[in-house]
Amino acid sequence: MKREQWKSQLGFLLAAVGSAIGLGNIWRFSYMAYSYGGGAFLIPYIVALLTAGIPLLILEFAVGHERIGSAPLAYAKIKKNWEWLGWWAVTFVMFGIVLYYVVIISWCLNFFVLSFDLGWGSDPDSFFFEKFLAVSTSPAEIGNIRFSILVGLVLVWFINWVILYRGVQKGIELANKIFMPLLFILTAILVFWSLSLDGAILGIKAYLTPDFSKITDPKVWIDAYSQIFFTLSLGFGIMIAYASYLPAKTNITRNALLIAFINSGFSIFAGFAVFSVLGFMSASQAQPLSEVVSQSIGLAFVAYPKAISLMPGGNFFGAIFFLSLVVAGISSSISIIEAFTSAMVDKFGVNRKTFVTVISILGFLGSIIFTTEAGLLWLDIVDHFLTHYGLVVVGIAECILVGWFFKLKILRNHINKISSVKLGPWWDFLIKYFVPLVLGMILIWDLYKELKEPYGGYSWAALLSIGIDWVLLTLIAAFAIAMRPWKTEHHKSGGRA
Ligand code: PHE
Repeated sequence: MKREQWKSQLGFLLAAVGSAIGLGNIWRFSYMAYSYGGGAFLIPYIVALLTAGIPLLILEFAVGHERIGSAPLAYAKIKKNWEWLGWWAVTFVMFGIVLYYVVIISWCLNFFVLSFDLGWGSDPDSFFFEKFLAVSTSPAEIGNIRFSILVGLVLVWFINWVILYRGVQKGIELANKIFMPLLFILTAILVFWSLSLDGAILGIKAYLTPDFSKITDPKVWIDAYSQIFFTLSLGFGIMIAYASYLPAKTNITRNALLIAFINSGFSIFAGFAVFSVLGFMSASQAQPLSEVVSQSIGLAFVAYPKAISLMPGGNFFGAIFFLSLVVAGISSSISIIEAFTSAMVDKFGVNRKTFVTVISILGFLGSIIFTTEAGLLWLDIVDHFLTHYGLVVVGIAECILVGWFFKLKILRNHINKISSVKLGPWWDFLIKYFVPLVLGMILIWDLYKELKEPYGGYSWAALLSIGIDWVLLTLIAAFAIAMRPWKTEHHKSGGRA
């Protein structure tokens, strides 16, 4: 069967941007910028983007495009016994990250509906944690399923299913051609609206005023690098799969640069909306800004609802805000499911439509645990281990496999033949030495912190049984799948070069 292909370059670009721009761009970036020295944070952030983000994005595109395959197939064509690495990347993202990512999208859908009549009432904090999530006291106390979250979840999986069922061109490409412009318009409305609020300038000042003393702390650099990996969806085999659907003649480096800059530009732009609103809130409540900011989840589901309730026309503002989160989230979740689907189609020649249906149902069932009263706690633990260890280890292994066991020059020549921006030997250096070194340092730092005190104040028992098991189980699954024989002939052919 012929490999699916994007209809247009723009379609590919928007799909990759859609994967990159996600929930992480809107609150994770803003919060980091704020707490790590405002405008000064842009220095480590941009350095990380240039020295690791873009080189690795080009690498993933090159691997998928030159070897013509999803991560497991492409890796198998590079070195036969490394196929497991590709499976690990796509398995832990499919049976890990996406399972809770869609639940957060379901929260956003719920809050979208709640916005219209400011349904969170006068105390959004207790509304969110006590009424909406009804968070239990420990991960072992699962409690009941939260019905409204389950309803949202069904809808989110349904949308994912519809898009993926329609295939690459009529599904993913078309959806992103609608979603991305919509997201940019919604975000632009939010930014200009929020800049007009009283006190907005206070927030903008806090967001942008550079505090250079903060960036001498190594932690800031480490977090900047991990943010770049997460935000560009690197290490999950997503960009590999997306690049494998490109036609032979494609300007790879130009696309990679555009995608990286649009993604980071979006984060910086959206930060204006986030901070104007916080400035507005601090002015209207006569509280210092540091009192009103909160991290990630708290920012979107507590601080924002508070501000929305105070704002004239807030219900519309809220609806637009949560809708944009839903749109950004879904375009990322489809990319995850696609990375896994593409791998299964490559290896077992499964029928795409049937498989998408099966995996959507399995995915839905797997997400249910995160809709329970212990959902938030499970989410927190699984997210911590997968993004801190899975992602980083795969990133290192990827650089080692391609940089050390394969001739990077083959990829570089291939890319240079078809791209406008040419890669020099500096790229080899970054992939072979620099990126694995930086990731290695992040890993050691994280492990050190982990052993010093258990993450998030959870018990070791909970961390081991949920977080570490999750990482290991996906690894075992990856080996198991990699050992199955190929049902297609794809692995017998080489790459394009
Ligand atoms: N890049 C997305 C974001 O910033 C997150 C993501 C993670 C997408 C993993 C795909 C896979 O939110």
